[in-house]
Amino acid sequence: MHMYDILNKKRMGLALTRDEIAFFVRGHTSGEIPDYQASALLMAICIHGMSDEETASLTLAMAHSGDTADLSHIPGVKADKHSTGGVGDKTTLIVAPLAAACGVTVAKMSGRGLGYTGGTIDKLESIPGFSTQQTPERFARIAGETGLCIVGQSGNLAPADKKLYALRDVTATVESIPLIASSIMSKKLAGGSDCIVLDVKTGNGAFMKTLKDSISLAQTMVAIGTHAGKKTAALITDMNRPLGMAVGNALEVEEACRVLKGEGPDDLRTISIELAAMMVFLAGKAVSMEDARASVQEKLEDGSALKKFREWIASQGGDPSVIENPELLPHAKVSRRVCADRPGWIDSIDTQGVGRSSVLLGAGRETKSSRLDYGAGIRFYRKLGDWVDEGDVLAEVFAPDEQSASEGAQVLRRAICIGQVRAEIPPLFYAMITENKNSNRQNCILYTENGMKEL
Ligand code: URA
Repeated sequence: MHMYDILNKKRMGLALTRDEIAFFVRGHTSGEIPDYQASALLMAICIHGMSDEETASLTLAMAHSGDTADLSHIPGVKADKHSTGGVGDKTTLIVAPLAAACGVTVAKMSGRGLGYTGGTIDKLESIPGFSTQQTPERFARIAGETGLCIVGQSGNLAPADKKLYALRDVTATVESIPLIASSIMSKKLAGGSDCIVLDVKTGNGAFMKTLKDSISLAQTMVAIGTHAGKKTAALITDMNRPLGMAVGNALEVEEACRVLKGEGPDDLRTISIELAAMMVFLAGKAVSMEDARASVQEKLEDGSALKKFREWIASQGGDPSVIENPELLPHAKVSRRVCADRPGWIDSIDTQGVGRSSVLLGAGRETKSSRLDYGAGIRFYRKLGDWVDEGDVLAEVFAPDEQSASEGAQVLRRAICIGQVRAEIPPLFYAMITENKNSNRQNCILYTENGMKEL
């Protein structure tokens, strides 16, 4: 087999075989196939796309290019949850203990934030003492005993994706649904869970800006997971505003604690319940989504999810008293208020702008090596659709120094648009994609004002 022939075939828009794709992934990961040939193939894929079979073959080859987690010795059905990335998205901190309290085992790896989106591992590490590095033995023991353990991605997880992603970044080939889907799903498959719930964000703060692209990405990922024998489903949720009222690592931990205590913002609680219910349903712990929602709601209301959260923090070395005493979480040195300069309705939020502000404040990473200030970030006092008078406090920013606070505050103020007409508030949920057990097709259920509608 020759890479030249593979390139020629894809250039003509023909489908590659599983063996050809495996040859490419193996050769590029080992360094035998040079970056210039890999780049040419990535561009041809961007232009011609890939069939479902090709995308599944690419994903499986990448998933098996390095270490894969074997979770078979951990008791219970294991469920993973992945978000395509957003601003203020701390749902994993809430969803994982909710699902574990319903009897689902959550033994998973998570990532760090990069650019304007946050990462679960950074949020967890803002809890004093919490360790996201565990030996495989301890990982299995914690997951077995508490039903819940989350660690950072191992260095050799899907190395093919690491190399290809770095190339895509510099060859304008990131924006391709088969390449994005295979990149995300290769890491999920290597993670070893039995069930995978995907939260595909859509809107001005998401990777996918349009609903059409978000549905297409979700369908591709659900097809890959199903093909690999995993129970997989996706929810498409809104990212035209930050999720909840807090952005920044320790601020988000504090907000997650509030939701688990039965307080906290409605949008965050509602999305967390839906995602946890999907994990519970896929893991076979409920007979229907309605039943799963009811169980999750019960575990939230009777305090078992909060108890699970406490156990989880302690099991990974963290100080669970942060739940009662959020002042034990890191705090930034400087704070500054962002106020309305005119009266009106908050009619839109540039969510990516909010994310950029959080990076300037020190809550996110500009580059992989940027240092974070765990206490930095934004606390909103007003949300999309609210009326504000001139001088009202819209938000407060937290930063390690005056300059970062000033820069972050300016960018944040520009991201909050005040107009004279009350705009329509976008829905929280757009669609749910599930596998259809009776056919090769998927179910796509749209959430409408009047309930749910099958597409
Ligand atoms: N996240 C990933 O892991 N890969 C992509 O290609 C895009 C987002």
